[in-house]
Amino acid sequence: MSKRKLAVIVLAAGQGTRMKSKMPKVLHTLAGKSMLSHVLGGVEKLSPEQVVVVVGPDAKSVEQVAKPHMTVVQTDRLGTGHAVKQAFGALAGFCSKGDTADIMVIFGDTPLIKPETYAQMVDLRRSENGPALLGLAFRPGESGRYGRVKQDDQGHVIGIIEFADASDEEKEIDLCNAGILLGDGPTVCRLINQLDNNNAQGEYYLPVIFDFAYAEGLDTRAVEASEEEVMGINSRQELAAAELVLQKRLRVDAMAQGVTLIDPATTWLSVDTKFGCDIIIEPSVFIGPNVEIADDATIKAFSHIEGATIGVAAIIGPYARLRPGTVIGHGGKVGNFVETKNAVLGDGAKVNHLSYIGDAEVGAKANIGAGTITCNYDGFNKWKTTIGEGAFIGSNTALVAPVDIGAGAIVGAGSTVTKSVADDALAVVRGRLLDKAGAGASFRAGRKKIKEQKLAAQNPDQNPNPSKNNEDNKG
Ligand code: UD1
Ligand code: CA
Repeated sequence: MSKRKLAVIVLAAGQGTRMKSKMPKVLHTLAGKSMLSHVLGGVEKLSPEQVVVVVGPDAKSVEQVAKPHMTVVQTDRLGTGHAVKQAFGALAGFCSKGDTADIMVIFGDTPLIKPETYAQMVDLRRSENGPALLGLAFRPGESGRYGRVKQDDQGHVIGIIEFADASDEEKEIDLCNAGILLGDGPTVCRLINQLDNNNAQGEYYLPVIFDFAYAEGLDTRAVEASEEEVMGINSRQELAAAELVLQKRLRVDAMAQGVTLIDPATTWLSVDTKFGCDIIIEPSVFIGPNVEIADDATIKAFSHIEGATIGVAAIIGPYARLRPGTVIGHGGKVGNFVETKNAVLGDGAKVNHLSYIGDAEVGAKANIGAGTITCNYDGFNKWKTTIGEGAFIGSNTALVAPVDIGAGAIVGAGSTVTKSVADDALAVVRGRLLDKAGAGASFRAGRKKIKEQKLAAQNPDQNPNPSKNNEDNKG
C-alpha cells in the first residue's frame, strides 16, 4: 500500500463533571504529566502529518498543553461524533475523495494506551488489503457501561451499540469499545457527516460509523487491548487506579534498566525519570518530574526529589528533599533533613545534616556542616551564595546572601556570615567566651537560697525544714 498520510484527532472537550474539579479533566496528572500530554506523547511517536485537539469552550489551559498542536473548539458538547466533525475544517487533504490519507480518533481521557498499540492499528490499516475502518476493543472483567462491539462470524465489526441503547441480549456481549478508531480519511469524514442523534442520549455517536461502514460492505475490524491499557478516567478514583497502573509500568522499566528498587510498591516515579544503572533506591522515595540519576547513585529512604540531576555514585538521603534546579556532582552527598533548591554541588561536596542550601553554588569537595542555612531571601529578592572548592562551613552557620566563601576557606561553627570570605581564610563570627572561675557554683548557691526564702515565706508552719522539702520537690 502506498504511503498514506495520517491525521490524529484527540477529543478533549468533555467537561469531566465526575472529577469535581475546577481544572479540565485532561489536565489532571499521572506520574507527573497531564493526561493530555500522555496521549499526545503516544500520538507523536506515530509521526502523524497533523494532530488536532478538540477542546471545550474557555479551555485556554488545555490549548496551552496541546501546543504545538492545533486546537479547535467544540462549543456545544453534542457527542463524540459531533466533536470529531469540528476538526474537519482544520484537516487539509484528509477528508476529500481521492485523498490518500487516514484519520485516527483518540480520546483524551484514555491516557494509558501504549504507543505500540496505536502503531499496531496503523500497521494493520496499512497492510496489504488492510481494513477500511478499525477500532480498539477490550474485554472488561466486569461488564461496565461501555459500548458493545458486535461482530459477524468472520470477525468483521457489524456495529457498535452504546450501553444506554443496548438490548439485554446486546449487553451480554463481552467485547467492548475502547473508543479509538482508525480509518480511511475520506470514508471517516463522509460517514461522520451521516450521523444523527436519534438515540437514548440524544448525541452524535462516533462509533455508529462502524454500522454504516459494514452496511456498505467495507472491511471493519477490531484490535484488542487489555482493560488496563484502555481504562478511561472519569473520576478521582479512576485517576488513582490509572496512576497505580502507570507506576507499576515505570517500576518494571526502571528495574529492567538496572535500578534496584528495594520496595517497588513504595517507589514513586515520573514518566520522564532518567536512570543510569546500578542505582539503588530504598523504600518510600518520591521522584517528581525532571529528574536524572546517574550510575551507582543511592537514594536512601523517604527522600523527595524533583527537577534534580544526581551525579555518579552520589548518595542522597535518607529524608532528603531535592527541589528543582539541584545538581549533585560525582560522589556528592546530601543527608538527612537537608533541603536544596537551585543549588549546584560540585564533585564530592557534602551537605550531610539539617541544612537549607538554596540559590547556591558549592565547589567540589566542600563540606557543609550540620544546620547550615543559605539565607537567600530578604523578603523581596533572592540572592546567591557561592562556596569555593574544599571550603569548610562549620555547623549552625547562616550565610547571608549575596555572599562568597572562597576556596579552601573555613567558617567557624555558629557564624552569621554577611561579608565574603577570601580563599583559604578562617572566618569566625561569635561573641567572646567569658570563663569566670567558680562563678557557676556561686550562681547556683545564690539561686537556691532565694528559692528557699520564697518557700518559707509562703508556708511558715508546714515547712520547718525548708531545705529538705526543696530537695523532695526537685523535678
Ligand atoms: C465512549 C464511547 C463508548 C466507549 C467508551 C470507552 C461514544 C458515543 N461512546 O463513551 O462506546 O465504550 O467511550 O471509554 O463515543 N468528548 C468531546 N465532546 C463531546 C463528547 C465527548 O470532546 O461532545 C470527548 C470527551 O472529552 C472524552 C471522549 O470524548 O475524552 C469520550 O467521551 P465520553 O463522554 O467520556 O464517552 P463515554 O460515555 O465514555
Ligand atoms: Ca469516558
